[in-house]
Amino acid sequence: MNTTGSPWWQKAAIYQIYPRSFQDSNGDGVGDLAGVITRLDYLVWLGIDAIWLSPFYPSPMADFGYDVSDYCGVDPIFGTLADFDRLVTEARARGLKVIVDFVPNHTSEAHPWFVESRGSRDNPKRDWFIWRDPRPDGGPPNNWLSEFGGAAWTKDEITGQYYYHAYLPQQPDLNWRNPAVRAAMRDVLTFWLERGVDGFRLDTIHHLFEDEGLRDNPPNPDFKDGMAPTLRFDRVHQFDQPEVHGILQDWRHLLESYPGHERVLVSEAYLPLEKVMGYYGGGKGAHLPFNFQLIGAPWDAAFLASLITRYESLLPPGGWPNWVLGNHDRSRVASRFGPDAAPLATMLLLTLRGTPTLYYGDELGLADVPVPPEMVQDPWEKLVPGFGLGRDPVRTPMPWDASASAGFTTGTPWLPLNADFATRNVAAEKNNLLLLTRDLLALRKHETALQTGAYGLIESRSDILTYERLAVDRRLQVVLNMSAAAQHTPVPAYELLLSTRRDRAGEMAERLLRLRPHEGVVLAIRE
Ligand code: NOJ
Repeated sequence: MNTTGSPWWQKAAIYQIYPRSFQDSNGDGVGDLAGVITRLDYLVWLGIDAIWLSPFYPSPMADFGYDVSDYCGVDPIFGTLADFDRLVTEARARGLKVIVDFVPNHTSEAHPWFVESRGSRDNPKRDWFIWRDPRPDGGPPNNWLSEFGGAAWTKDEITGQYYYHAYLPQQPDLNWRNPAVRAAMRDVLTFWLERGVDGFRLDTIHHLFEDEGLRDNPPNPDFKDGMAPTLRFDRVHQFDQPEVHGILQDWRHLLESYPGHERVLVSEAYLPLEKVMGYYGGGKGAHLPFNFQLIGAPWDAAFLASLITRYESLLPPGGWPNWVLGNHDRSRVASRFGPDAAPLATMLLLTLRGTPTLYYGDELGLADVPVPPEMVQDPWEKLVPGFGLGRDPVRTPMPWDASASAGFTTGTPWLPLNADFATRNVAAEKNNLLLLTRDLLALRKHETALQTGAYGLIESRSDILTYERLAVDRRLQVVLNMSAAAQHTPVPAYELLLSTRRDRAGEMAERLLRLRPHEGVVLAIRE
């Protein structure tokens, strides 16, 4: 198949950088943009096509940058706008695209818009946020809970009204029904488009609108003790309101008005799959509504096979798939599936049909790093301790080498390093997963079938998952042995292109494929 017509974002592998934790350049223990620039060559070596930067905007850091106090700047801890411009220039020089995080649902309480808004009931910016009177008993306007625990309403003593926040009280929700908000946020997108970004990752987009009548949420019939308290209600009125799709369409038009290559919208919405599909907006919404299915899945061949089939079957016409194994909010893949499974999971991610997003450090098999209570930074963990919701363990510094602070900083890292950083780091020779990730990314680039070819499930029996990827005159088969036992399985005559152990390339055989425990292979079928 000729893929020259496919837009870059369909063929690309995206790499998520959490700027605080990637590379520090000034010894303050926190990563920064200048640090990212020094690591671009690594990403090119790895075979990445695009980076997505989590927020680097000015912020009081109540939620580590997801509380933005100025949408058009760079927080001094991360550098300057000049650093950002240099990052774009340097990335572009290396053929890398740059996607930035856009946080439209809420600002920081320190954003001048909110500071004005809370000043008085008749402030011109009052309606930029969601203010309501208390209930007659003085309580919050309804029963909505915050994602981070507790009520989603905070009473502001200045005016005696409550404001709504889907997340922390320090993250007041913007009122997207106000046209002035929509215009101001459109200007923000324009600001970054003019600076040359190639797309946006849209933070928590399903929260953009709430039920206009602010109706109470009904109880969640599936709620059980031990579940995160915020799940006590079925949050039907709190998010995923239809108006969001019009906004996405508008942004898509804006992006399309920029000449040259296509800019991309990647949306984040933790919703059931059927709902996520709606965010494609019939080809007029997000290009890539994040598909988090692999993050929530058990490591089970039959389960994964049906999950992939279901996802593929629900895609709207023209909807391009995407896959994600990890991000800055969820337990790392090496911890979820275990170290033996991590190479197979990477092979799965990089051989399924669709744009993959890799999370920094996962290419090293980095596991969740235990963070002692006295070092906890994440507000979620502080507010709702004991539920395993804390995200610090998945945000620890990237280990680059075996030197004192793993080459991440000359100072003290803001979160602890992985205990095994002396051996698990980029510079360490023989990190099989790192080299495998690189080999897989190279294979994707080389094989049209992997980049844009069709997907077909062949079988999922016991612990073996087998699927094919097809292009004109090329048939690849991916076979993953997800068990701790050696397995054999019938296959057509093949040439082995890549094993997760990286030691069988070029092997030719017919009929029977033998796999070692936890081994996956990509085969080129010769018949
Ligand atoms: C989703 C982001 O991924 C998460 O890190 C953040 O805390 C919330 N949105 C709020 O912005």
